[in-house]
Amino acid sequence: MRVVLGVGGGIAAYKAAELVRVLQQRGCMVEVVMTSAAQQFVQPLTFAALTGRKVITGLWSSNSPEDTLSSAVEHIRVAQDHDTLVVAPATADLLAKFAHGLADDFLSTLYLAFTGRIVLAPAMNTNMWNHPATRQNIEILRSRGHVIVEPADGLLACGTTGPGRLAEPDDIADAVMKVRRDLEGEIVIVTAGPTQEPLDPVRYISNRSSGKMGYAIAEAAAVRGAKVILISGPVNLAPPAGVTLVRVKTACEMREAVMRNLAQSSIVVKAAAVADYHLSAVPDQKVKKTATRFSLELDPTPDILAEVGKKKTDQLLIGFAAETQNLIEEARRKLKTKNCDMVVANLVNREDIGFESDDNEVVLVTRTGDPVHLARAPKREIADQIFDHALLQRLS
Ligand code: CTP
Repeated sequence: MRVVLGVGGGIAAYKAAELVRVLQQRGCMVEVVMTSAAQQFVQPLTFAALTGRKVITGLWSSNSPEDTLSSAVEHIRVAQDHDTLVVAPATADLLAKFAHGLADDFLSTLYLAFTGRIVLAPAMNTNMWNHPATRQNIEILRSRGHVIVEPADGLLACGTTGPGRLAEPDDIADAVMKVRRDLEGEIVIVTAGPTQEPLDPVRYISNRSSGKMGYAIAEAAAVRGAKVILISGPVNLAPPAGVTLVRVKTACEMREAVMRNLAQSSIVVKAAAVADYHLSAVPDQKVKKTATRFSLELDPTPDILAEVGKKKTDQLLIGFAAETQNLIEEARRKLKTKNCDMVVANLVNREDIGFESDDNEVVLVTRTGDPVHLARAPKREIADQIFDHALLQRLS
């Protein structure tokens, strides 16, 4: 594992030296970046001696213009050369910068350029840790899938007692080693969001899907090393870093995009809420209002999941079942009729989970074994658990 360790400016910065040793003992290559505040606490020389490499201490080189130019793109080189970014101690200031995308020094620019896995080990005064601003920043960072190694409880350097002490280097190293790159070499198709089925040039039929679950799945797969093709209906979300986004509107367009990419894929996750009906012949002109009752005759859309189930070779096929009742029976029926390896079933009539929510609570139904209930958690975390179980399914 190639780790870049960002050291923030806190009293715990000295513990980062021990963390370097522990990571090296576990077989990691470590390069160190220090913020200028960190250099007030520990000399870069300590880390240079431990790693045998130059320590990065700023965005700008004080040497020749050529040096300055090469150091100006150094954060991109560092981002590309490493698979994991660990920040310890992560100060309140660094967490705020990361959460809001500020990039005014080497570490914060590196954070934005980094597409691999991120592990943050915060350390600060208890009141700073408990402050709503820090809590919100932590939530934002967690929702991006970063691993947060919670600070420990204890006597802090400022004299107070409470949470805020940097976690032990061994515990941080444990979290780093858990980081998975188990989807490397996989090509994952993810469908997400609703579809929009036009009725005329200005109207359409759609549904309440926000796309959040599908985007979380795409992000989890990308972070775990997969090449991801995200086929998305109209949503208000930014695509996760590193995925190939294919935008579609209708079920027919989504079907076309899925089928075009199916042969090269190894895992297909159908998280989209595809409309079941559409107008097969959409009028060219806006339909005008009349005083009489108006009814629509709709035709079924292609069932993309069922078609993939028929055509698939050795792909792992994961379908979704959005239900308002009989969750497990319906999931089992869909698993069988659509030839899936797993169906992720969720209730969509609860306000706290499901469509627009950031959280979800699902049941995984597979061909073998009992249904697995995943307790309520952020969608990004549910996404990781879906892949954990899907990969086990492939082995069984
Ligand atoms: N699906 C699909 N194409 C469709 C409809 C659904 O690929 N035209 C996929 C969804 O992406 C999801 C799964 O089928 O992975 C189940 O979707 P859901 O709406 O729960 O079920 P339906 O098949 O539409 O069945 P029903 O309306 O009876 O619940």
